[in-house]
Amino acid sequence: MSDKATLEVNGKKYDFPILRGTEKEVAIDISSLRADTEGLITLDSGYKNTGSCESAITFLDGEKGILRYRGYSIEELAEKAKFLEVAYLLIFGDLPNQEQFDRFHDDIMENAIVDDDVKKILDAFPKTAHPMGVLSSLTSALTAFNPSSVNVDSEEDMYKSIVRIIAKLPVLVAWTMRKKQGYPLEYGSKKSGYVENTIKMMFRKPNEDYEKNQVLIDALNKLLILHADHEQNCSTSTVRIVGSSHAGLFASLSAGISALWGPLHGGANQAVIEMLEAIQEDGGDTKKYMAKAKDKNDPFRLMGFGHRVYKNFDPRARIIKKAADEVLADLGIEDPILDIAKGLEEEALKDEYFVKRKLYPNVDFYSGIIYRAMGLPTDMFTVMFTMGRLPGWIAQWREMRLKKEPIGRPRQLYIGETLRAYQHINKR
Ligand code: ACO
Repeated sequence: MSDKATLEVNGKKYDFPILRGTEKEVAIDISSLRADTEGLITLDSGYKNTGSCESAITFLDGEKGILRYRGYSIEELAEKAKFLEVAYLLIFGDLPNQEQFDRFHDDIMENAIVDDDVKKILDAFPKTAHPMGVLSSLTSALTAFNPSSVNVDSEEDMYKSIVRIIAKLPVLVAWTMRKKQGYPLEYGSKKSGYVENTIKMMFRKPNEDYEKNQVLIDALNKLLILHADHEQNCSTSTVRIVGSSHAGLFASLSAGISALWGPLHGGANQAVIEMLEAIQEDGGDTKKYMAKAKDKNDPFRLMGFGHRVYKNFDPRARIIKKAADEVLADLGIEDPILDIAKGLEEEALKDEYFVKRKLYPNVDFYSGIIYRAMGLPTDMFTVMFTMGRLPGWIAQWREMRLKKEPIGRPRQLYIGETLRAYQHINKR
C-alpha cells in the first residue's frame, strides 16, 4: 500500500501521509488539511471514521471480535488476573511484579477513606435520585476535598489522584446504594482485597455479620476486568476531551460517568433487564419483541444488541454468558429471565434483519443477569460498569496528559442563517 493519500479539489492535488499502527491498522493523517487547502474540513457525524488519537492501551478488531489490553487477550485476563492487576496494566503499561502490585494495592487501600462531609452532600439527594447522577456529582465534589487533583502537570500529583480515586470510588458506590436502601454508611476493611472489600461495603446488612462469598467475588472481579477499557468509546472520549482542557482527573471522570449513563452506552445493562422483565410480564413472547425491534415505525430496539465497532460477536458477551450460567448455578438460582435472554439471542442470530446488519449480543446483554443474581438493584448496574471502566478512563486520561495532546476542539459545517438585522420585539 502507498504511504500517502491524494485528495483532489478543484483540480488541485494534496498529499497526506498514511500512518500504520502495530496491528496494521491504517489512518490518513489529515492534520495539515485546513492549512494546506485553506479551510477545508472533514465532516463525520458520530465520528464513525475519525481517529481522535494514537493510543497504546487497547486494541480491538470489531470484524474479528478481538479485544486486548496492552497486548493481552481479554479471555486470558478475565480467566487469570485480578482487577487491580489489570488496572495497573492499563494505566502503567505492563503487568505489575509482586512488589509493584503490593505498593499499588497498599497505596489504594491507604486512601480508601472519604471525607465525612461528603455524606452531607449525599444526604441532600432524594432517595429516588438515579445513582449514576449521584455518583457523577460526588466524583466531581471530591475535587474540593482533594485540591491537588487539579494539578495535571506533576506526575507525582497525578499518581496520588489516580490511587485516591481508585480507592474512593467503591466507597461512593457503596454509600450511594446504601443511602437508597436506608442503610448506615460505612467502610469495609483495609485487610480485604479490593473486590471483596467493595462487596462487603455494598452488601453488609446492619444486623448481620459479613460472610465471604467467593463466587460473588470471582464474578465481580471478572465483570470489572471485562469492562475495564474499550478504547475511544463515548465516555472515554469524553474523559479525554474534558481532560484536554487541563481540567483535573476527578472532573474529567465525572463527565465520563455522565456519558456512560446513557441507554445507548453503559445504561444499556439496566435497559436490558427492564426489557427482559417487560417481555416476561407480557407472557414471554420473544417473537413479538423481535418483530417490534425490526419494525422501523416502532422505536423499540433490542437492548444489549448491536455495537458501533463489533460487527461480530463481542468477545466479552461470550465470557459473560458463560459466567452468568456458572454464577446462577453456584448460587442455586433459576432465573426465567436468563432463558428469555438466551431465546432472544438464538432467534436474533438466525434472523435475516440481525444477520444482515451484523447485530450480535454486546457486553451488556448478559451482565445484568449476573448483577441481578448478586442482589443488586437494577439502577446500580451502570454504576458497576463505572467501577470497571474507571482504570480505562484513567489510563486514557494519563496517556493524553503525558503525550501533551492539544485541547480537543472539533470544527463544524455551519448550516444556519446568514447575516440578518436585529428587529425590535414589537416588529417581530
Ligand atoms: N435493535 C434493532 N435494530 C438495531 C439495533 C438493535 N439493538 N442496533 C442497531 N440496529 C439497526 C439500526 O436500526 C440500523 O438499521 P438500518 O440500517 O435499517 O437503519 C442498523 O442496525 C445500524 O444501527 P446504527 O444505530 O446506525 O448503529 P450504530 O453503530 O450507530 O449504533 C448502538 C450502535 C448504539 C450500540 C446500537 O446498536 C444500539 O442502539 N443498540 C442497543 C443499545 C445497546 O445495547 N447499547 C450498548 C452498546 S455497548 C456499550 O456501549 C457498552
